[in-house]
Amino acid sequence: MVPQSPSEWPLHYLRWAKIRQRGAIDLATSGVKACALSDLALAGEDLAINGPNDEGYVPLMEAIANRYGLRTGQIVTATGTSGANFLVFGALLKPGDEVLIEQPGYGPLVAVPQYLGATIKRFQRSFERQFGVDTGEILNAITPRTKLVVLTNPHNPTGAVLPVEALREIGGAAARVGASVLVDEVYLDGIWRDRPSTAASLGAPFISTSSLTKIYGLAGLRCGWVAAPLELAGRIREMHDIVDGTGPVPTEMLGVVAIRKLDQLRERSRRLLAANMEIFQQWMHGQERLEWVEPSGGTVGFPRFRDLADSEPFIERLLSQQGISLVPGKFFDLPAHFRCGLGGDTAALVRGLDGLGQALRGC
Ligand SMILES: Cc1ncc(COP(=O)(O)O)c(C=O)c1O
Repeated sequence: MVPQSPSEWPLHYLRWAKIRQRGAIDLATSGVKACALSDLALAGEDLAINGPNDEGYVPLMEAIANRYGLRTGQIVTATGTSGANFLVFGALLKPGDEVLIEQPGYGPLVAVPQYLGATIKRFQRSFERQFGVDTGEILNAITPRTKLVVLTNPHNPTGAVLPVEALREIGGAAARVGASVLVDEVYLDGIWRDRPSTAASLGAPFISTSSLTKIYGLAGLRCGWVAAPLELAGRIREMHDIVDGTGPVPTEMLGVVAIRKLDQLRERSRRLLAANMEIFQQWMHGQERLEWVEPSGGTVGFPRFRDLADSEPFIERLLSQQGISLVPGKFFDLPAHFRCGLGGDTAALVRGLDGLGQALRGC
């Protein structure tokens, strides 16, 4: 199989996110407002350029394992959740293997297995089901050729959270055919009440991926990881050997400092996201042209137009006439929706929603 060159790919979300024109009010991002370096209050010994990191920076692996109640060897460090997902796909898939992936979903979770020559099957998370999963549909789609079932929890882009019973049912069916279940949990720490524990703590066949990028305002650190059953973690670490060689020492050292301060950083994010979510909820109440499933967690809202099949022309006009950016739903396979980021500056969100409300009323 000869992989397609990236220039032949259709415009995908991440490329768009990098080259898009940004409005003065940018509601198209999915992370929380950036932290300053001073928020980490570094001591001299907290940071070095070089150091031992052949198999991952051990203090970071220990800190993540402690948080999850897992063994240190179950953690593989990676470049963000993106890098973590790539390592899992690379370690587990060969051409022709079947991968079941949620739809709507986050583009790279489809693009990487496609690039590796896997056969992609999608299962639906629909508005009518509050963007939950139909476990019957997934169980029916699992075959002896299935190698991986892929989910996000909370779901990107809707923020829906999966009940642990559904995960267990999917895990049981996957295990019966020797498949694994990859749960991308990059938004999991953005659930403030009744936060489920990581899927990896359910044991085989679950693999979790996450990072400090989205919820904590530490996007630039690119500090991510995989949590997997011990034997699989070994294979994933071998994938890390050929993708990344050795991990970045400064990033992983700063990751340790951030995890030490995680409760404090989390409280900062909770305050911001809770205030912004309330503003967005109130605003949605008054919008006759829109409907949505309220997210249980995460950093975005994902409303749907009642009267437009494709939000993109509206969003382009909003950007050119009012300087407000949103993400068209087409990047998540649902063109009638749009994604609005809720992790940024509250005053900017209020101004953005004012402008968006006017545009929706046609003024
Ligand atoms: C579901 C999901 N996984 C992974 C990522 C990327 O995470 P990271 O920045 O840690 O690579 C995103 C970013 O939007 C995402 O939505």
